[in-house]
Amino acid sequence: MKLWGGRFGKATDALVDDFNSSIRFDARMYKQDILGSVAHAKMLGKCGVISEEDAKLIQKTLLEILADIEDGKVEFKIDAEDIHMNIETILIDRIGDVGKRLHTGRSRNDQVALDIRMYLRDEIDEMSALLKETMSTVVALADEHSGTIMPGYTHLQKAQPVTFGHHMMAYFEMMKRDLSRLSDCRSRINVMPLGAGALAGTTYPLDREFVAEELGFDSVTHNSMDSVSDRDFIIELISCLSILMMHLSRFCEELILWSSNEFSFVEMDDSYSTGSSIMPQKKNPDVAELIRGKTGRVYGSLFTILTVMKSLPLAYNKDMQEDKEAVFDAIDTIKLCLPVFTNMIRTMTVRKDNMLSGAKGGFTNATDVADYLVKKGVPFRESHAVVGKMVAMAIEKGKALDEFTMDEFKSCSALIEEDIYDAISMQTCVDGRDLIGGTATARVQKEVLEAKEYLK
Ligand code: ARG
Repeated sequence: MKLWGGRFGKATDALVDDFNSSIRFDARMYKQDILGSVAHAKMLGKCGVISEEDAKLIQKTLLEILADIEDGKVEFKIDAEDIHMNIETILIDRIGDVGKRLHTGRSRNDQVALDIRMYLRDEIDEMSALLKETMSTVVALADEHSGTIMPGYTHLQKAQPVTFGHHMMAYFEMMKRDLSRLSDCRSRINVMPLGAGALAGTTYPLDREFVAEELGFDSVTHNSMDSVSDRDFIIELISCLSILMMHLSRFCEELILWSSNEFSFVEMDDSYSTGSSIMPQKKNPDVAELIRGKTGRVYGSLFTILTVMKSLPLAYNKDMQEDKEAVFDAIDTIKLCLPVFTNMIRTMTVRKDNMLSGAKGGFTNATDVADYLVKKGVPFRESHAVVGKMVAMAIEKGKALDEFTMDEFKSCSALIEEDIYDAISMQTCVDGRDLIGGTATARVQKEVLEAKEYLK
């Protein structure tokens, strides 16, 4: 008979057992479920709701069940529905009537809310550690390439020279925000819901703060109905993960472009590329493409949970069981992508020469020519127009601006002198942007130092 079977005259149809059951996917919360029950039993004993003796036996047996699960000795059953009732059933099988006292003052509604919060807290810690490794690798690349000049783009058109290190540190900034979003989200997850019961609280004199303390929560929830029906924190977590994936997808997109024959700025290591079954010459950046593609999966999970929660009346509804596969899949995807991404960028080759020659094309120093004239007293709007004409002339002559002869420069502006060549070299263009947030090598090096400090 089911743990809740008292009022039923018939067994559940096998189809319904299967349909209703969540053990296939919520089994992964076994540890949180058991530790939550251990704390609940301990509190029941301490508050005199059950005897200390019973509380001790329950706790001891739960921990034995945990060890058995970890040793692969336990088989969960579909007709016990979910992880909560599977473990309770095993407990009762082992210690009979004493085990039946565990669920006093508790409902699966507050129990599942507790378990998922504990579970997500642990996963956030793991994902944050993985993200930090990615960030260290990004910083190491920035460190190595603080002086590597490449073209910077806007509209995917060459704009101004930057350093590859600066470009890498742009991603570091994004990831730093991702990490801080995860930690913010964790603080809202780390609130203890047990004691809400099914929805209205419970008549037993439970010590909720004791349970919170036992389980490492920062505080307890303040409304029992909200406690069992809140899934904001799941929406928030998948939002954070979606933004993180969006950042990875942009990074991957650039790596894919840069690996193309047209750019040839980077080359993926053979161990992080794949070939074609028909074209012998191919070397494809599949890893980067897959990460870009998996971004869609994580966004999908976000929409799943947003839609599941939309318009749900208070308090608990079974719809909410659908939260788990979405959030688990989003987490699994992140944990799959981050390490492979980290190793992919760690092992890729950076083609400095191609980056530099890329920076030299496309008149990326045109702004610096205009700035040169500004320093000679020409108003910026006017120098912009003069340089615009110079660019047209350069296109016509098929040369770069710094390949102009002195006569050609003079024909554009009498103010231009010999020092123009130095003023508009790629190196000067980069090193001149020496202010907080600028691409100058010295600035990038400072940011790299701060980043290393942050990651410690
Ligand atoms: N497996 C359920 C879930 O994930 C647990 C809560 C069930 N509560 C209930 N009253 N049926 O939401």
